[in-house]
Amino acid sequence: MIETRFVGRVSLLRERVESFERYPFNLPSVRALDRIEPHPKVTFFIGENGSGKSTLLEAIAVSLGFNPEGGSRNFQFGTRPSHSELHEYLRIAKGMKRPRSGYFLRAESFFNVATEIEKLDAEPSFGPPVINAYGGRSLHEQSHGESFLALLRDRFIPQGLYLLDEPEAALSPQRQLAVLARIHDLASEGSQFIIATHSPILMAYPEASIFQFDSNGISQVAYEDTEHFQVTRDFLADPQRMLRILLA
Ligand SMILES: Nc1ncnc2c1ncn2[C@@H]1O[C@H](COP(=O)(O)OP(=O)(O)OP(=O)(O)O)[C@@H](O)[C@H]1O
Ligand SMILES: [Mg+2]
Repeated sequence: MIETRFVGRVSLLRERVESFERYPFNLPSVRALDRIEPHPKVTFFIGENGSGKSTLLEAIAVSLGFNPEGGSRNFQFGTRPSHSELHEYLRIAKGMKRPRSGYFLRAESFFNVATEIEKLDAEPSFGPPVINAYGGRSLHEQSHGESFLALLRDRFIPQGLYLLDEPEAALSPQRQLAVLARIHDLASEGSQFIIATHSPILMAYPEASIFQFDSNGISQVAYEDTEHFQVTRDFLADPQRMLRILLA
């Protein structure tokens, strides 16, 4: 029995699904989904482009009450109805305690979150400016990577629940290592992460479960068995050899 921190077993209520012929149920990862057991600290979703990682991450986020456009649970902006109905077909086991904080980071919509913070702070309020929780500088005036690191450093707190979609997108390798260290601190202090990623650096985090999405469905894999690890290792071991083969 795996300990549940905030998000425990995620099950697809298959009997409710009328048809596995249409999106999102026709994706191989969803079609074969019965249940997955996230790690109490860190869970990675990996797999090819289009394999359904964002679809499932977003459905988990929406099912837990996050805005499908991303942000904390206080953000309720946006009307884009593009998220799938998968969240209505998930059952998510929850831990005894509620997270003290939470965040759903969509790679594509960090810009919208930055805009929403500026809007909230432009309105009269008795509380401190929202931007203070993000390093005090408008996220529009920081680089993509800088603003993401500010989010992780200033806004993410212990005992939080964080769902991140490709957080590596803006980050140099050095900064990905910094993010690993920050994730470790937060996870050690009671936070839980679910992260969709292509980064062989991030997915190396040891206290984690890796779920691979492919044509057979979703299955747990060891870090060293991931394609990300193997391809990167082989390439860096002898770039010239790999290039000769590729560019022949
Ligand atoms: N609203 C939609 N209607 C139909 N198909 C969709 C819709 N949204 C996404 N898809 C398809 O579902 C598949 C899975 O998309 P998803 O974004 O979950 O992939 P992903 O694993 O996150 O990929 P990536 O690594 O590129 O981010 C894709 O083939 C995509 O084209
Ligand atoms: Mg995606």
